[in-house]
Amino acid sequence: MKVTVVGAGAVGASCAEYIAIKNFASEVVLLDIKEGYAEGKAMDLMQTASLNGFDTKITGSTNDYTKTAGSDICVITSGIPRKPGMTREELIGINAGIVKSVSASLIEHSPNTIMIVVSNPMDTMTYLVHKTTNLPKNRIIGMGGALDSARFKYRLAEALGAPISDVDGMVIGGHSDKGMVPLTRLATRNSVPVTAFISDERLNQVKEDTKVGGATLTKLLGTSAWYAPGAAVSGLVQAIACDQKKVFPCSTYLDGQYGLNDLCIGVPVVLGRNGIEKIIELELNDAEQQHMEESAEGVTKTNGLLEL
Ligand code: 2OP
Repeated sequence: MKVTVVGAGAVGASCAEYIAIKNFASEVVLLDIKEGYAEGKAMDLMQTASLNGFDTKITGSTNDYTKTAGSDICVITSGIPRKPGMTREELIGINAGIVKSVSASLIEHSPNTIMIVVSNPMDTMTYLVHKTTNLPKNRIIGMGGALDSARFKYRLAEALGAPISDVDGMVIGGHSDKGMVPLTRLATRNSVPVTAFISDERLNQVKEDTKVGGATLTKLLGTSAWYAPGAAVSGLVQAIACDQKKVFPCSTYLDGQYGLNDLCIGVPVVLGRNGIEKIIELELNDAEQQHMEESAEGVTKTNGLLEL
């Protein structure tokens, strides 16, 4: 199992680290345009191998795509991250050009790869890969919902005063502050609906805190977060590499599901060796469906800014 991660910044390096620590991949190639940067990150990470007990070989390269040849999974994290006060959508001008050329170079050397898109605005960047490459749609996956759901579970556990391992919940919709649809109705604490434990008002606060999860961190850190994005990507990569058939909300191309068409947006999917093996259609109530449609409108509007 060979995995390439393009972009050796904080998110890319965290992806590589979590993938290596989970010890299921034989090789992780880190790529960056900054001279020596990916090589340095790879060497530093390799020097944690004996300490953290992994055998995954991590190598780095300055923009040499021949080193990525034959990758089973490629992760695109390249592009600029947002600064405090910026929306993910504001990054489109620079990131669209980067994602377009990176995805083309990756496919040239790994035509059978599964592609995971992390660069923002993520749903639109996933759509761009869908529109500009010939990869089948099951092999194009946008990472946002897995991260947003992890943030949702963190906030839920905090509100419930419960351990995170007892909490389950999912965020669907677009990976944007307004577009996220945290499904509070379906969230549970050890199989019991969370609505049995907390007031509607508190639950609403959880929802709002989840939606600005990334923005809150950007304000604190001065740049976009990396630990949780890296861990979320590693979860998707492991589900695919190990054919786990796990369910994650991921951005995928919809043609009719949820009443939505011609966009990539977060919905629950089954991830296995073939990438997206099934799209799960949840029965949403009217308010959730309306929120999902508004979210889709926002994503489609951002897609309209692409020069396709
Ligand atoms: C975030 O929400 C990187 O978009 C990502 O932190």
